[in-house]
Amino acid sequence: MRITVIGAGYVGLVTAACFSELGNEVMCVEKISSKLEKLRKGESPIYEPGLEEMLKKNISKGRIHFTDDIKEGVAFADVIFICVGTPQSETGKADLSQVEEASRQIAENMDRYKLVIEKSTVPVNTHQWVKRTIERYLKTDVDFDVASNPEFLREGSAIYDFMNPDRIVVGVETERAKQIFEELYKPFTEKGFPLIITNTAAAELIKHASNSFLAMKISYINMIADLCEKVGADVEEVADGMGYDKRIGRAFLNAGIGYGGSCFPKDVKAFIKIAEDNGVDFGLLRETEKINSERRVKFVERLEEIIWISKDKNIAVWGLAFKPNTDDIRETPALDIVKRLKEEGANLRLHDPKAEENFKQVVPEIENVIYVEDKYDALKEADVLLIITDWDEYKEADLDKMKELMRLPIVLDGRNIYDVEVMKEKGFEYYSIGRPEIKKC
Ligand code: UGA
Repeated sequence: MRITVIGAGYVGLVTAACFSELGNEVMCVEKISSKLEKLRKGESPIYEPGLEEMLKKNISKGRIHFTDDIKEGVAFADVIFICVGTPQSETGKADLSQVEEASRQIAENMDRYKLVIEKSTVPVNTHQWVKRTIERYLKTDVDFDVASNPEFLREGSAIYDFMNPDRIVVGVETERAKQIFEELYKPFTEKGFPLIITNTAAAELIKHASNSFLAMKISYINMIADLCEKVGADVEEVADGMGYDKRIGRAFLNAGIGYGGSCFPKDVKAFIKIAEDNGVDFGLLRETEKINSERRVKFVERLEEIIWISKDKNIAVWGLAFKPNTDDIRETPALDIVKRLKEEGANLRLHDPKAEENFKQVVPEIENVIYVEDKYDALKEADVLLIITDWDEYKEADLDKMKELMRLPIVLDGRNIYDVEVMKEKGFEYYSIGRPEIKKC
């Protein structure tokens, strides 16, 4: 099939690359010229495992093309995915101006039937606005459909998630649109991946409802972690015990310093607003959000309980990205924590395998904020190590070497990556979330 993808951001680029990998011919429309230049050479502007290789391969096979000309993009295919950004506005509402612009441009360049698909995360019933916009700006009397096909890609494993979906959700209003999706997703349904077909409003809702539910699960287990600390239970044992119940499931019950990223914080906020606009008070999600933002504050308070004063202390920080396998620092807990410790006058040595360059743009290197390339360099003469992102390379670190390098062997682990017993044997003073502490004094 021929497919056009508007917007080469995270979602658009992964969608375009994966559809081309499946043998489709894809045209990706991107208006930022610096990005476009990179993409044409097969360079990915974001770090996502496997993406660059996939782009290079499909460019060389002539199956993926890039343009900044929307006219060319619209003419190229009858199936058009809108994958532009939907950032958060000041009110918490999604800013849909890029979706509106894309709809208008599609309409102005449409000369035959098109299936216009929202893939960006949008509030429920956005499809009605897309439809109305296209109707208004159409120059010729041609048929079109608007559909919703939300993405469920996790950063860091987006390619895997695209190719191995738990489900594919499509929201359609006509038989014609339904048939196009059935054809498009045939390589998946043939392998047994479920294709869920709903109306468009339900598909839009499924996306926000899913992300908000996962965020709620994380805040829930984080409150259980707080309780565990008070009563002497281990939150991992509690989560395992809960997770065996198939109705609950173990996934997303990892306690820690809370969720970040470009999706959960924004989507929970937007969903609260959508509910409010429709006269529904979603207090449950307001609480989810509140619990999450308090995690970062509590983490720093916990540090103060452990080391008393941060000023002039050598604090090593492992992990700046909002989660492993990405260089994305949007809404990362590391930002609030590092900024606060910097204000207090701590000497910070920061490490992240991929996100240092992005983090530096927000927290520039200065005398008492140093970025290191080797994670062990961060530990030299450190009074304490803070673990903020659960990268595998931290999980696999040499504990003896770590202890030897540090001035004091104190670790405050916001992601529960080490075994408490092992840390005890190695002689660390080890604090994690919702698990027994190993105190020295
Ligand atoms: C999330 C969803 O998982 C995807 O299904 C969705 O498509 C995507 O948002 C989106 O809307 O585009 P993502 O933000 O990439 O994906 O990352 P997740 O793996 O969901 O993690 C989100 C945050 O929750 C991270 O900060 C992670 O550290 C945290 N988390 C996750 C926990 O604190 N505990 C857990 O048990 C799981």
